[in-house]
Amino acid sequence: MEQSFNPSKNMYFPSKEIIKKANVNDYESLYAKSVKDREGFWAAEARKLDWYKKWEKLLDDSQKPFYRWFTGGKFNIIHNALDRHQKNATRNKLAIIWEGEPGDVRTFSYHALNREVTRFSNVLKAMGARKGEVVTIYMPQIPELVVAMLACAKIGAPHSVVYGGFSVEALAERIEDARSRILLTADGGFRRGKPTQLKKIANEAMQRSATIEVCITVKRTGEECYMENDRDFWYHDLMGMPIANSGCCTEQTDAEDPLFILYTSGTTGKPKGLVHTHAGYAVYTSTTYNYVFDIKPEDRWWCAADPGWITGHSYIVYTPLINGATVMMYEGAPNHPYPNRWWQIIEKYGINILYTSPTAIRGLMRFGASWADRHNLSSLRLLGSVGEPINPEAWKWYYEVIGKSRCPIMDTWWQTETGGFMITPLPIMPLKPGSAAKPFFGNEVAIVDEQGVEVKQGEEGNLIIKNPWPGMARTILGDPHRFVEKYWEKYSKQGWYLAGDSARIDEDGYYWIIGRIDDVIKVSGYRLGSAEIESALVSHPAVSEAAAIGLPDELRGNIIHATVILRQNITASPALAEELKMHVEKEIGPIARPAFVEFAESLPKTRSGKIMRRVLKARALGQETGDLSTLEE
Ligand code: WT7
Repeated sequence: MEQSFNPSKNMYFPSKEIIKKANVNDYESLYAKSVKDREGFWAAEARKLDWYKKWEKLLDDSQKPFYRWFTGGKFNIIHNALDRHQKNATRNKLAIIWEGEPGDVRTFSYHALNREVTRFSNVLKAMGARKGEVVTIYMPQIPELVVAMLACAKIGAPHSVVYGGFSVEALAERIEDARSRILLTADGGFRRGKPTQLKKIANEAMQRSATIEVCITVKRTGEECYMENDRDFWYHDLMGMPIANSGCCTEQTDAEDPLFILYTSGTTGKPKGLVHTHAGYAVYTSTTYNYVFDIKPEDRWWCAADPGWITGHSYIVYTPLINGATVMMYEGAPNHPYPNRWWQIIEKYGINILYTSPTAIRGLMRFGASWADRHNLSSLRLLGSVGEPINPEAWKWYYEVIGKSRCPIMDTWWQTETGGFMITPLPIMPLKPGSAAKPFFGNEVAIVDEQGVEVKQGEEGNLIIKNPWPGMARTILGDPHRFVEKYWEKYSKQGWYLAGDSARIDEDGYYWIIGRIDDVIKVSGYRLGSAEIESALVSHPAVSEAAAIGLPDELRGNIIHATVILRQNITASPALAEELKMHVEKEIGPIARPAFVEFAESLPKTRSGKIMRRVLKARALGQETGDLSTLEE
């Protein structure tokens, strides 16, 4: 049945079927209850999971903003994602359906996944992995990536997954920051019909940062790659050895023990390693998943992100398994070999829920509706969007062409820092294309000015969160000062979390996210720091200074524009511009490649020497440069 549409409000109302099925059917009253008795709400949700030992204190706020949740409890996320399912019918259910880009298919029941994870846990321990020590994972989107993450969690070794699209410098930096001794990688993966060369990049990164003692490589593409004696081992060799056979017990970790580190870009060049913990993260993300995506035992869920990002950590790997769902994973590009690949997958496997990004939707929209129309997409019940604001045009296309005006779109706003959804619709809510709707349970959100005063309805301001929540990042690895400074200092009097986004609230209490207020650029939904791109440029021998800004782009949301000052005696040329683009790609990865490199004599700076990116942006867009009174020259 179609949903109804109210044109005067531009609102889409859910159908009776959706409402009847929903896991929550009254947002307002549950929301009011959840913020009135926040601890009661989270205690009730936490009791739905299995604990080795119940917590003593639900929320310890004695060291704000370093909140601690469920302290005194013993809890391992793997006990909930795998172990407990072995005792009931879920054991025989499909946990993962995986399709490689070339078309190869592999499936894992909960039983089989648990067996693989247990075997690899044994291998990790035999190779010297220790509880509390960070293991770095750099893999393509293959099942072993999930196995590796789960095995680390099982033995209590926090993982740090570095997205497989990142390159040498990005990987080396993250290995070094986490002082990782173990690296898990693969020879490569497939992207648009071509094998990528991950091991080659890993080898270079290991040369730059010397902490890695053991590197385990999964054979995926079979391409030749260099393996160093006594350091490099093949995954399949180790998994075939007797060491893999013993029965590894899940480590009884403390509730607050770190589950993973995930690096994300900020305002400075150095990426931040955000720390998430076993219990709070599990409770928060599984609650959001269950309520927002209305998960049913018969559902086949597809989050078409990469496990290397927070979206994949939370909503491909951990929560779907905690909730006993069946997860779809696809290795490659959406338009390979043709732009119907995704729609074919939905039809073939009978996917019920698709969760993806605006940039992917815009990319597929470009090829027209006929590619989707060739496929039966009637299994879909709900859709989701994440990563950046979705433009109403793309929203409508997704809604009408993919969801056939039957499937509500959950536009979820959240961040690496938040662990799970913070502002989001529920299936029962009327929807407005482009709005992430309302705060999730337990969260009080507001839009405020520089002083912390709430702005008038409809006005733009800083998005803040007034309360702690179980899924929040606990700190930045090795840099607690930066954690305080970046997120908590601005509104320290009030004790609010600064999200780094600007937003508005409309007359119905719906939130509209506008974008980042800091020097973070979102390219195709990927988060990059201006400073990271600038340091990559400056690491080239021809460059003395550089400034990177984001410019609006119809397809990718933003594209990177770099202004470069060359060293003395170096002449600007189109060839050099190309070389610099390639250099950034080699250092950080293809997503960071500037679309434009422009040469200049100087950069606009404040008297204190900060680059005025606002001026560069106005100039690049041919707009007025605005107030220049703080400009040095
Ligand atoms: C930033 C966080 C959270 C998973 C992926 C991104 C932007 C995220 C939305 C949305 C508008 C969004 C924000 C946020 N963002 N979701 N639904 N609508 N903007 O995680 O890489 O940590 O990026 O992504 O700007 O601050 P991330």
